[in-house]
Amino acid sequence: MNVLVIGTGYVGTTTGLVLCEKGHKVTGLDIDEKKVEALSAGRLHFYEKGLPELLRKHLNQNNISFTTDVKTAIQQNDFIFICVGTPKKKDGSADLSAVYSVAKMIGTYMNKYKVVINKSTVPVGTASKVKEVIEAENGKVPFDVVSNPEFLREGSAVYDALHPDRVVIGSSSKKALEMMRQLYVSETSPIVETTPNAAELIKYASNSFLALKISFINQLARLCDMMQVDIDEISKGIGLDHRIGPHFLKAGIGYGGSCFPKDVSALITIAKEEGMILSILEEVEEINKSQPFYFLEKVEKHIGGLEGKSIAVLGVAFKPGTDDTRESPSLVVIDELVSKGCSVNVHDPIVTITNPSVKQFDHVFDAVDGVDAIVLITDWDEYLNLDWQKVKSTVNRPYIFDGRNALNKQELVNIGFHYEGIGKP
Ligand code: UGA
Repeated sequence: MNVLVIGTGYVGTTTGLVLCEKGHKVTGLDIDEKKVEALSAGRLHFYEKGLPELLRKHLNQNNISFTTDVKTAIQQNDFIFICVGTPKKKDGSADLSAVYSVAKMIGTYMNKYKVVINKSTVPVGTASKVKEVIEAENGKVPFDVVSNPEFLREGSAVYDALHPDRVVIGSSSKKALEMMRQLYVSETSPIVETTPNAAELIKYASNSFLALKISFINQLARLCDMMQVDIDEISKGIGLDHRIGPHFLKAGIGYGGSCFPKDVSALITIAKEEGMILSILEEVEEINKSQPFYFLEKVEKHIGGLEGKSIAVLGVAFKPGTDDTRESPSLVVIDELVSKGCSVNVHDPIVTITNPSVKQFDHVFDAVDGVDAIVLITDWDEYLNLDWQKVKSTVNRPYIFDGRNALNKQELVNIGFHYEGIGKP
């Protein structure tokens, strides 16, 4: 089938390539000529493991092409996926301007029946609003709007998109639903068919519930610190109960990224608009915002104040496997350390930051040279497999603060480090 994907960010590009894997012919549309040029030449403008290979494969097989030609792209395809960004506005709600401008474009150029599919994360009721916007531009040509939220994670986008736990299709039209079933005919994962409103809410509820699990375990980790109990033992002990599950119970410095912070905040706003306080999520957000500061208090206490100290921050990306720094706790930590008068050395395997107040190093051993403490924020494999004996001989004072509870405490203590995690006695 002929599918158009509008927006070539990590969701749009991955969605398009995975649809190619399922045997469809895909056009990727973007208004940014540079992105289209790069993608057409087999180059991604963001880092995502496994995606460059998939891109080159489907370019070579002529299964995917990229264009800025809006009119032709809309007219030649029956399925139109909207995969544009929905960033957080100042009031916490989602900014839908890109979604509506795409809807307007679709209305302007639509020439025959289309299924318009929202993959972007959008508030409940957006499918109907997208319908209104298209209709306002074009009242004659029939079409349907479907909600088909995406659940892939950055860093494992290809795997997640190829092996989803479920596919959610929210449609109020039998014809569109039938066409969506055809599009997903080779899908072996369960398909959940709902109304568009329910599909939209499922997306926010999923991300918010995962964020809730993280904030739950992070708050419990603070209790563990007081009670001299190991939070990882708690995570294991509760996670083996299949009603709870082992995932997203890793305590640490808090969640970041372009999704959880934005979606938790958006769901709080959605509830407020209905006259309801989603207090449980307000607490999730509060715990997450305060977690980096809780962590830094430990650093301050153990090394005897921050002013004048030299600190190495390992990891800038919000998690390993991505170059995304949006809402990364690392940025909060770096800013706070700088404002408290520290001299900050930064290392990340792939991210370069533009912060004149810090020194960034290409090699981790240069970053830790002569420092008073090492603060690990992103649990890249490179750090987990470091020669810590060598690190010990390089630092000024042997203090490690593990914001991800990812390092082997015993091994580090044996080498002579003072180790502090979160909820690790
Ligand atoms: C998240 C969801 O996991 C995806 O299902 C969803 O599709 C995506 O948002 C989205 O809405 O687009 P992502 O933000 O890429 O995916 O990253 P996650 O792997 O979920 O991690 C989010 C944050 O939680 C990271 O900062 C990670 O370090 C943190 N985390 C995760 C923890 O602190 N503890 C855990 O146990 C798990």
